[in-house]
Amino acid sequence: MYINILFLGDIIGRYGRHLLRDNLGRLRSEYLPDLIIANGENASSGFGITKKSYDELISFGIDVITTGNHIWDRRELEKDIDKCPNLLRPYNFPKNQPGIGYLTLYVKGVKISILNLIGRVFMGGSIDCPFNAFDDFISTIGMDGISIIDFHGEATSEKAAFGMYVDGYVGAVLGTHTHVQTNDDRILPKGSFYITDVGMCGALDSVIGMKSEKAIRKFITGMPEKHEVEMKGRGVFSGVFLQFDVEKRKVAYFNKIYNLFGDCDGYKG
Ligand SMILES: [Fe+2]
Ligand SMILES: [Fe+2]
Repeated sequence: MYINILFLGDIIGRYGRHLLRDNLGRLRSEYLPDLIIANGENASSGFGITKKSYDELISFGIDVITTGNHIWDRRELEKDIDKCPNLLRPYNFPKNQPGIGYLTLYVKGVKISILNLIGRVFMGGSIDCPFNAFDDFISTIGMDGISIIDFHGEATSEKAAFGMYVDGYVGAVLGTHTHVQTNDDRILPKGSFYITDVGMCGALDSVIGMKSEKAIRKFITGMPEKHEVEMKGRGVFSGVFLQFDVEKRKVAYFNKIYNLFGDCDGYKG
């Protein structure tokens, strides 16, 4: 028996949400996913995720939404997160934070656990060791199912080290956060799938989904600048498709998704 999983990279603002709305149907008929996971940390105007955006992504067909360093950018989420049962925040954030860091679902009767972790290199904030957090997770959840990890991090080396650390214990490690898809998707020596970064769903002619002019000005002047989601130009839709062989608990087939779209100018409605 096989289980098909679609994982989509960081969804950037309304542009990313509309790309999702307009393309998920096509991906569904192409890949027949049993489970769809997406990183939604930038879903609401590029920063954080509100309950409204959470509900919208769920209504498009996303089953589980992972996040990262931007999880609390929209402070109202703190009171709403308990009403977002399939929303994850990094598990290795302080334990007394609201929300959950992993979730177990049964898909076709198979136990699938989705774990959200965040790296510590160039990330800032109060973050526990993701390696120790993984040990804690796997000793709680056990090895009798398939584990999928969103490792949200900046440094390639930290993600690569984590992939090698958990190889053979999990189904897949999918990196997020940089918004740029990497070309190192592969099965690691002990059987886990790994990619350093899945990429994003958002505006391509931008600086990682945000308006270029503002990003450039910030780099040149060093002055504070409020980033804004780019809403025009070409779009990029990034993800990974994974087909698991349930008996072997390993990925039997995978395909990186990197779809470019022409001018999506006017993604307003
Ligand atoms: Fe992001
Ligand atoms: Fe991030």
